[in-house]
Order: sequence, then structure tokens, then C-alpha cells
Amino acid sequence: MNTKKIAIMGFGTVGGGAYDILVENREYIKNTRGVDIEVARILDRSEEALSARNADAALFCPSADALAADPDIDLVIETMGGVEPARSFIIKMLKAGKSVVTANKELLAKHWSELEPIAEKNGAGLYFEASCVGGVPIIRALESSFQGDRINTVYGIINGTTNYILSKMSAEGCEYSAALKQAQALGYAEADPTADVEGYDAAYKLSVLGSLAFRTYVPYETVFREGISGITADDIRNARDLGYVIKLLAIGKRDGNKLEARVHPVFVPETHPLASVSDAFNAVYLNGDFVGDLMFYGAGAGAHPTGSAIVSDAITALTEAPKYRRFVADGKLEAGISLVGNFESGYYICVTVDDRVGVLSRISTVLSDNGVSIKAATQRSGREDGTATVVFLTHRANERSVMSALETIGKLASVRRIDSTVRVL
Ligand code: HSE
Repeated sequence: MNTKKIAIMGFGTVGGGAYDILVENREYIKNTRGVDIEVARILDRSEEALSARNADAALFCPSADALAADPDIDLVIETMGGVEPARSFIIKMLKAGKSVVTANKELLAKHWSELEPIAEKNGAGLYFEASCVGGVPIIRALESSFQGDRINTVYGIINGTTNYILSKMSAEGCEYSAALKQAQALGYAEADPTADVEGYDAAYKLSVLGSLAFRTYVPYETVFREGISGITADDIRNARDLGYVIKLLAIGKRDGNKLEARVHPVFVPETHPLASVSDAFNAVYLNGDFVGDLMFYGAGAGAHPTGSAIVSDAITALTEAPKYRRFVADGKLEAGISLVGNFESGYYICVTVDDRVGVLSRISTVLSDNGVSIKAATQRSGREDGTATVVFLTHRANERSVMSALETIGKLASVRRIDSTVRVL
């Protein structure tokens, strides 16, 4: 049996996780998958990254050019993260005919349409199971299972950090800032948490998952995005009182040539399977026209779950011919497909008002003038400052109608502020 030599670019948590599996399970992979994989070179900024993970210092390689020029290297794993220099390094490897396995969702979301044609032109493979939902095999499932089905909807909890924060707020009744601090202390959230909490990370992943699910390219820029930093402990409590939990959902829908792609907090009915996905866990719930409803659940991040997806891709790359997704090539939404910006949803609206006669009826009138029908309304009053909190749940309504109603409601004399608006699944 030939030994396949591979390299790892970026020897941090995820690169180290893949390395552990490749070393520990080398014999097992050889015996069960028929391929002997040797990690022959590791590229990082300094040799210390190797010693920190007990890797042989002799594997250290400081130069991507040297790696690309090395004829012994069959495949390269990219676990550097970020756009540059990961993008340039991957292009060098693909141009040298080396297949690439990447865990980099930001790079993929922003440059997939550039990388896929380069891979094809050079006969190399581009694999990215680890880029979305860590160890959960959702990319492979979307590419090679239920291939004859039309996928109608994809609902995903695909960011562990925000799921952890919302779960903490729910379990402890704490505010967002306290839950964020706990997520940072545990290493889930970065010092600058923007990419996770403002929904960018989930939008990158939805671009990739939506493209594969709907077999048409969903450019990252077309994904509607709103994060969780505006969610309060009161919202979580109100949701619970109404029978919901709040989750950051990535939502993809395709109905004929109409497409929705959005990431935002959502009231999920507590009876829905996604409501039970807590802490840093991820899940993708999808519906296909013949397969019906399916849910994929597991660890969406972490050295070994993500490493597991990388190693699986590496084995596929070394044992099968690459396949190309031609639909990503021009980087645009396919002609004829229209993106639905004015999507429909139920809405939770929380408003602080002066506790005076007629306030509720004035707000109801504005909602009804905009075609927004109220499903439920509750009020908490009796405060010393003379204010009351009113919570509305609406029937399905157009996004633009609701936003237009809220603009008018915000200007009513007796409305102190609109505290929150959250869409309902
Ligand atoms: N920051 C990501 C998350 C890691 O919280 O899910 C995996 O992409």
C-alpha cells in the first residue's frame, strides 16, 4: 500500500485535532479505508505551534511556496481560518494540482466561486465538510443523499457560540452581556465576538449549505442577517410564557424560483425538535419533498469533532475522484431565481408605553392599517413610573408591513420605546 503524504497549514486547535486523529487512527484508517496517510509537513508561523501539540519539529515548514512545490505532498489541509493568507495559499496548492481540505467557512462563503474553478482546472479536489456544523456530516448528506429530492427548507442552529449564550440566558435568566462573558471564559466566543453574535458566521455557513441544498448558488451577500446582541432577559422570559424558546436560526427556503436566505433570532415553539438543541450544540433540520423532515445534530465546533470531518474529507480526497459544483462558478444568484426580501413570518413585538387609556387600541389600529393581524397580546402594568410593557404576537405578516407599522408605532406619543421585535417560526 502506498503511503500518501499530506500537509497541514495552520496548526491551531482544529489543525491539531485533525493531526491527533490522523496519528492515533493511522493503522485503523489503513486497515478499514485502504489508505495510509502520513502527515509529512506542517505549516505555521512558528515551530512552537508544533511543540505545543507534541508534533515532530522536523515536520515544520515555514513556506507555502515550498509546500506547493513539494511533489511528495498529495493533499493539503487548511485550518488557518480567515481570508488571507489562507486564500492565496489554497490557490497555490490547487494550482500545483494538490487537493485541499478546508474548515474555513468565511473563505468559502467569500471566495468559493473563485476556488472551485481553479480546483477543476487543475484536476484537484476542494473539500469542506468541516466548514459547516463541525463534526456533523451535513455537507456530505446534502451532496450525496436524497439526490432526487427537492429540498424545500433548511433550518439550522449553526453557530454554537450564540446557541450557548441564548441557552445560558434561558437557563439562568441572565442578560446577554453576562452570558457572553461566560461564553468568552469558556473559549466559545472570541474577545471580539462580532462574527458569531452578529450572525456573520451563520450567514457564511448558510451560503454554503443553502447552495448545496437548493442546487443553486446562494451568494453570501444575499443572506439577510441580524444577530442576537439585542435579545434581552425579558424577551427570553416572554418567549417562555408564550411557549417558545429563542434561537439564532439560519433559514433557507426554496419554492420554485423563489429563494429565502436569512439569519436572525427566532421564537421557536418549545415542541419543535430544534428547541431542544441547547448549549453549544448545533443542528440542521431540513425538509425534502419525498424524504420528509430530517434532523442532523451534534458538535458544531471543537478540535476533534471538526478534526473528524477534516480527516473524513482527506480520506475521500485520497480515495475518490473529485467532483465539481459548477453552479458556484459565476458567483451570482442564478438568472431566473429571485430572492424574497419581503418574506412572511409571525412576529413578537415588545413595546414600552405610557399606561394611559387608548394606547393599546392606537397600536392595534396601526398594526391593522398595515395588514398585520394580532394573534395574542399581553400587558404588564402598575409600575411607579407609569409605564406598561405590552407584548404582541402576530399572525403571519410581511416583513415590510411589520417594519412599516413599527416605524409608525415608534412615533406614537404614548409609546416610550419599541423594546424588541423577533420573528416567529
Ligand atoms: N464560532 C463558531 C461557532 C465555530 O460558534 O459555532 C464553528 O464555526
